[in-house]
Amino acid sequence: MEKTLIFFLLLNFLSSVLGCKVSSIYVFGDSIFDAGNNHYNKYCAAQADFPPYGSTFFHRPTGRFTNGRTVVDFLSQFLGLPLQKPFLEAQLDIINGTLKNYPSNGINFASAGSGVLSTTNKDLNVTSLQTQLQQFKSLIEQNHLDKKVVKQSLFFLESGSNDAFNYFSPFDAPTLSPDAYVQEMLKQVGNFVDQIYELGARKIALFSLGPVGCVPARALLPGAPTDKCNGKMNKMVKNFNMGLENLVKAIPSKYPGAIAVYGAVYKTVQLFRANPSQYGFNDVTNACCGYGTLGGMVQCGKEGYTICPKPDRNLFWDYFHPSERTYKLISKALWSGGRTSIRPINLKTLANITLSEQQYS
Ligand SMILES: *[C@@H]1O[C@H](CO)[C@@H](O)[C@H](O)[C@H]1NC(C)=O
Ligand SMILES: *[C@@H]1O[C@H](CO)[C@@H](O)[C@H](O)[C@H]1NC(C)=O
Ligand SMILES: *[C@@H]1O[C@H](CO)[C@@H](O)[C@H](O)[C@H]1NC(C)=O
Repeated sequence: MEKTLIFFLLLNFLSSVLGCKVSSIYVFGDSIFDAGNNHYNKYCAAQADFPPYGSTFFHRPTGRFTNGRTVVDFLSQFLGLPLQKPFLEAQLDIINGTLKNYPSNGINFASAGSGVLSTTNKDLNVTSLQTQLQQFKSLIEQNHLDKKVVKQSLFFLESGSNDAFNYFSPFDAPTLSPDAYVQEMLKQVGNFVDQIYELGARKIALFSLGPVGCVPARALLPGAPTDKCNGKMNKMVKNFNMGLENLVKAIPSKYPGAIAVYGAVYKTVQLFRANPSQYGFNDVTNACCGYGTLGGMVQCGKEGYTICPKPDRNLFWDYFHPSERTYKLISKALWSGGRTSIRPINLKTLANITLSEQQYS
């Protein structure tokens, strides 16, 4: 007990000297952020826990859907924090006695394949955003997390790509118009923000969707173009992103004491696509790892896949996901970039803000 206290005093001292006020990150979303939750859910059919996933950085599969670190991992490193564990791993560690309590550097609840709509990929047994929130809520209610720490923590959400992709999938015939569908998605994000605020979140970062219509997996959709991006899908994504930014703008007045930022991932990725060589890419179209048209017909690691010699040179690692290097460039833009990438302030500035006592209550 005493040792823990001394450790925390030391940590507090160090973070004040280093000018960093954030000691933890709570992460919600889909495969862009999933650090292994699906891997620890044996009923889930959306997996990346086999080679060559993870091969560039971790040198083993971790359940992350890329060859190395995700955006959340990089941001965590920029903050000087250890990488956040998947919630399901932490929970198992506690059950088997390896951990005494939930980690103090935050928790990752993201589940690959999930969307902002609770029905998205439900048949794959993904953990919906609503269930992720429920998991966080139960930790708060059971006093597993320090409420003061939670209020200084960063909250990250990136979700919606799977909803948008599935809208155009022949297996999930949509009943709503594209606009109504986007409004339904935004309503769910609004509910999410309501609830995390209620549970103590004050520093909130909502990340836009990337150009989902450009993923190599579009080759799987009948009638979708393979020589250019899927315009209809990108249009839906842009509408969602616009609504998301409006939601972010409304946060300070709607939720007293909260600060929110909008990460313009779409725009950031479009810059890479427009000037590949300037960013060190020689392929911004095909998956490095996969098979068939655009490398988008088969998941990386599945039968028949091939892998490119230099994953760093490809924007896409697999049929849906960017390479680690793309994630690194996005992370840098979100961390210390200007208003083109993140607004009204970047994550470095957000992390360094000390909330007043008033904002605590
Ligand atoms: C459970 O315990 C063992 C050590 O006894 C550990 O290696 C393992 O990672 C733990 N956690 C999970 C999630 O299996
Ligand atoms: C989803 O989970 C159920 C058990 O809860 C299982 O029977 C089913 O096969 C799983 N679905 C997939 C696609 O793995
Ligand atoms: C953090 O904020 C303090 C003022 O509160 C400032 O002096 C310092 O330069 C900031 N650090 C960074 C990394 O922005």
